[in-house]
Amino acid sequence: MAEPLRWGVLGATSRIAQKAVMPAIVADGSSELAAVASRSGGDYPTLGAKSSYDDYQALLDDEGVDAVYIPLPNSLHLEWTVRAAEAGKHVLCEKPLASNAAEATEMALACTRAGVTLMEAYMTPFHPRSEGLHSVLTAGRLGRLRWACSTFTFPLADDHRWNPDMGGGALLDLGVYCLSPLLAAGEAMPARSDASMTVGGAGVDGTFSGRLDFGNGLSAAFVCSFEAPFMQRFEAIGTDGAITIDERPFTPTEEDRFIHLTHRSGRMESIDCGGGNTYGGMVEHFAAVVRGEARPRRTPAEAIELLTLQDGLRRAARVTAED
Ligand SMILES: NC(=O)c1ccc[n+]([C@@H]2O[C@H](COP(=O)([O-])OP(=O)(O)OC[C@H]3O[C@@H](n4cnc5c(N)ncnc54)[C@H](OP(=O)(O)O)[C@@H]3O)[C@@H](O)[C@H]2O)c1
Repeated sequence: MAEPLRWGVLGATSRIAQKAVMPAIVADGSSELAAVASRSGGDYPTLGAKSSYDDYQALLDDEGVDAVYIPLPNSLHLEWTVRAAEAGKHVLCEKPLASNAAEATEMALACTRAGVTLMEAYMTPFHPRSEGLHSVLTAGRLGRLRWACSTFTFPLADDHRWNPDMGGGALLDLGVYCLSPLLAAGEAMPARSDASMTVGGAGVDGTFSGRLDFGNGLSAAFVCSFEAPFMQRFEAIGTDGAITIDERPFTPTEEDRFIHLTHRSGRMESIDCGGGNTYGGMVEHFAAVVRGEARPRRTPAEAIELLTLQDGLRRAARVTAED
């Protein structure tokens, strides 16, 4: 068996690192949690990591680390990905890959120059139901697609996501979840779009909504919000069928297995796609990519393309309310 991939984590007290990704690294048979680094330090769960640092660069200088996971605020993704690449480490960086497409491009170039792998930690596609949704949307099962809609809202308390200097905003935080399945349905970038947003916190979009026209008969809409109750929903309507996913389409758990399909005849069907751990699938896949055993399922170019769309939507958005 190949040697395990030795991981380091920058910002190890991060909620998503602690809750999901560090446990997934520890559970993965082809990975090892070699080191953690926390600038705030203190007493926090290190999940058996061999080394712990209070300085991110010290972790990058550790020769016992092959790859780093970066769960830092969005504004720090660029700096620490470039530094990691320069230290020869492969990088799994949290979503959004960067605060905008230009920064993500710089990160991709740095990793290419250093000959290391860069992947955005967008975990949703690693769930069996996401694979099922992708095939329903792209295999013509719904006939000619006419409408699709993504909703992802939740109430966000005090957080760096309300700060524009930290790469905050609802579109940056939630856009990848809402837009990726819409782009899969449209099979291209939209031909036309418009957007609206409210501005809150220290000057970020608290609610961002948009409408996309793919120029092929499919129109779509989405809403991302920090100002509303928790809600996740995806729907798509075609000439032969319509689907809805109400049970966490974007952050599915082991229990979230079903796609609800209404046939043209009116017959209703619940497709059981099975459950899975998205974070476990992502960690296992990243280790396989680093070893050259798998082709990346999400390339930096795809993340840059999505950020380019988001940058354009944000530039064009009408402000409908300011707190
Ligand atoms: N894939 C997912 O399911 C998912 C879910 C939530 C968030 N995310 C992404 O993960 C990233 C982190 O989100 P999070 O909710 O985990 O954030 P968080 O709990 O606030 O953690 C961020 C960590 O970054 C470090 N940090 C360094 N400089 C900082 C600064 N100036 N302000 C605040 N923290 C700083 C801190 O770790 P130390 O003090 O230990 O160094 C902090 O604990 C974001 O990019 C977010 O979009 C992904």
